[in-house]
Amino acid sequence: MTPATESGLALPDGFLMGASTSAHQIEGNNVSSDWWAMENRPGSFVAERSGDAADSFHRWPEDMDLLSGLGFNAYRFGVEWARVEPERGQVSRAALAHYRAMVRGALERGLTPVVTLHHFTSPRWFSELGGWTSPDAAELFAAYARTATGILGEGVRHVATINEPNMVALMHTLVRRAGRSSGDSPGGRREGAAAFDPAAAEPDAEVTRALIRAHRAASAALREAGLGLQVGWTVANQVYQAEPGAEEVAAAYARPREDVFLEAAREDDWIGVQAYTRHRIGPDGPLPAPEGAATTLTGWEIYPEALGEAVRHTAGVVGPHVPVLVTENGIATDDDGLRIRYTAAALASLTAAMRDGVDVRGYLHWSALDNYEWGSYRPRFGLISVDPHTFARTPKRSARWLGSLARAGRLPEAPAAAPAGVSSAG
Ligand code: BGC
Repeated sequence: MTPATESGLALPDGFLMGASTSAHQIEGNNVSSDWWAMENRPGSFVAERSGDAADSFHRWPEDMDLLSGLGFNAYRFGVEWARVEPERGQVSRAALAHYRAMVRGALERGLTPVVTLHHFTSPRWFSELGGWTSPDAAELFAAYARTATGILGEGVRHVATINEPNMVALMHTLVRRAGRSSGDSPGGRREGAAAFDPAAAEPDAEVTRALIRAHRAASAALREAGLGLQVGWTVANQVYQAEPGAEEVAAAYARPREDVFLEAAREDDWIGVQAYTRHRIGPDGPLPAPEGAATTLTGWEIYPEALGEAVRHTAGVVGPHVPVLVTENGIATDDDGLRIRYTAAALASLTAAMRDGVDVRGYLHWSALDNYEWGSYRPRFGLISVDPHTFARTPKRSARWLGSLARAGRLPEAPAAAPAGVSSAG
């Protein structure tokens, strides 16, 4: 185990400290994707369109310059399937070259790339075929993964097949419930993230099975390439907390929503943990946030300790042989001091889990940039703000603070005298 120091936990060798993004949320003009089609359909339930997003399709070198200049050594970003294969079987050589340049650009700047192949958006043609429930879904996704090895071969080690498959399967249920009459495709969040309630439904069982098949097929394709890729997927950890007497209800509630996706990662090279808040479960199911609890711009209870609890739970389900990468953790707020306090407390809970032996290999904050939060630009998760008109980037104080931890190679501890929580740090 890493030795304790007065100023925190020394980062283990090779620990990744950085930030995360996804392609659709920052690139802009992802016109061949199903989300773009949904956003731009007359009468769509999506409140705000992604449009130019943060224009990172063109400005990625500046984004990476900023991240490495801040002191980070890792950057998680997405490859967009709809750009790589805008029509079935038609691969864009220009898109491959674009993402190859991004991988090289990250490595040149000392940023270890962590690359996601699917982050909520699919090519339009794939959704029109029926998406994940189409009979060929696993093979189509594996074929894309095989194509993507032409990008990953530039020096990527960590690749995530599908981001938050549990949310993808859940959204499927929500959209189906909302009625296909609106013409909207699976993958959507109704009226933006604020109205999205993960407690409201159970992931679609058929989509769950299809996603696991697709993950396995893509993982096999990636390993067959012989590039030494470390393959995993990233799961939304909802930190289901049982109220006294509700342990069995909570376990039954968590299984289809989270654990089944973690169990599917037992043969993987790593598992991505994405944690923001908790969900309390009583004897009759999910409970609202405690009376008077502070909430974020997405309406989530501010509960930074979720991170430590999520990595402990994940390690318990996948087993000690699968290392953990925190691939998302953050807070939607306009109060950057709160972002620092939340993140310090979240990191302290991570430190405690690492001290207890959980094998954590990295922390990637959500998000590098203020970005398109699936239907709205209002919730701001970024360490770096982006002017929506000029696209000018300005690192926030939180970015400098987190970067300085990365530089110092230290993770904070919980302050001894203060209660855990947002009021305790910063
Ligand atoms: C997703 C991100 C999203 C973030 C905050 C995760 O569910 O992977 O795309 O922006 O949470 O809502």
